[in-house]
Amino acid sequence: MKKIIHVVGARPNFMKIAPIMEEMGKFPDHFQQLLVHTGQHYDREMSKVFFEDLGLPEPDIYLGVGSGSHARQTAEVMVRFEDILLEESPDLVLVVGDVNSTLACALVTSKLYVPVAHVEAGLRSFDRDMPEEINRVLTDQISDLLFTTEIGARENLLREGIQDEKIHFVGNVMIDTLLANKEQALAQRTFEEYGLQEGEYILLTLHRPSNVDDQTTLEGILYALMEIQRDTRILFPAHPRTTQRIQEFGFHQKLEDMNNMTVAEPLGYLSFLDLMAHARLVLTDSGGIQEETTILDVPCLTLRENTERPVTIKEGTNQIIGNKPEVIISETKSILNASQKTTNPPEKWDGQAASRIVSILRREGFD
Ligand code: UD1
Repeated sequence: MKKIIHVVGARPNFMKIAPIMEEMGKFPDHFQQLLVHTGQHYDREMSKVFFEDLGLPEPDIYLGVGSGSHARQTAEVMVRFEDILLEESPDLVLVVGDVNSTLACALVTSKLYVPVAHVEAGLRSFDRDMPEEINRVLTDQISDLLFTTEIGARENLLREGIQDEKIHFVGNVMIDTLLANKEQALAQRTFEEYGLQEGEYILLTLHRPSNVDDQTTLEGILYALMEIQRDTRILFPAHPRTTQRIQEFGFHQKLEDMNNMTVAEPLGYLSFLDLMAHARLVLTDSGGIQEETTILDVPCLTLRENTERPVTIKEGTNQIIGNKPEVIISETKSILNASQKTTNPPEKWDGQAASRIVSILRREGFD
């Protein structure tokens, strides 16, 4: 019997850990699982609702770290997580994604000579201005097992000197969760609650510091949205960081002036999945949404200069368009006027990623 600590901290972690815990739960004589929530995200809509929607167990340990500068947040997680590791002496710590909690816990674990497994390893935007890119590169360097989601990730890791034997291409656990919940989510018809018509609205998310922390950039994006909503309704579940910036910059009125724009609180997993699946188009700067829209065959315009998930462009529905207002407007119009494209799912995005991960852990003696 091996003791495994799973780490979650921020919104995009919850849907990645859920299928892994479920799969390990099928082998109760082999795995003792503990779930640690760092508390990087703490609002109900950013955290608790995902536990309910995904049937995740309550965290065994809650570190209650909260917001702060990168140094403060990362350091707080490290200090508190070290105590847990010393107390629990796990056989393996499993971290997912690229948030500050991922790196913080991986670093503490490796210094205490406990093996680290990183799920979603090897994704690279090659943009070190993104805090997530730093978290990815460093977490991968100190991980013992690297589970990758797309074919190109191995190449990225080998280039950084990671040994080939540590790398396992398993597919995408976030897509495991999507496929497992799709039917239930689509039955919700959340879009009707917002008075939207199937296939006739744009779903928008924005939270990257590069888009929302700079006043001029955010103003440009809002200008583009003002133009776009003249013809097509937009639903915008706003991230707390973005809501804060809109208030700080005094942009609230700009959104109020858009008659076809609905600003909502951040939404739960099932509601958001339903809204994505029925949208005509998704405008976003998120990482995970680029992958989810690819599986749902919904066009996705990504308001960034790069992506760490190139398979969503090569094989999926994603297009990288940056954040210049005129480009956002013209690319949106060209999607709205085009017929919808259908794609094949990327390799191993088949709902079986968690089961591959657990088989590999068993084979490697972690059970
Ligand atoms: C974090 C992750 C990012 C991920 C995103 C998804 C890092 C570096 N970034 O970015 O990779 O895509 O989560 O949401 O780890 N806040 C609240 N309530 C909350 C959480 C945050 O009000 O429950 C506010 C805080 O004021 C905070 C701000 O949002 O200052 C940003 O939160 P933070 O966790 O620092 O980063 P995100 O931008 O959410």
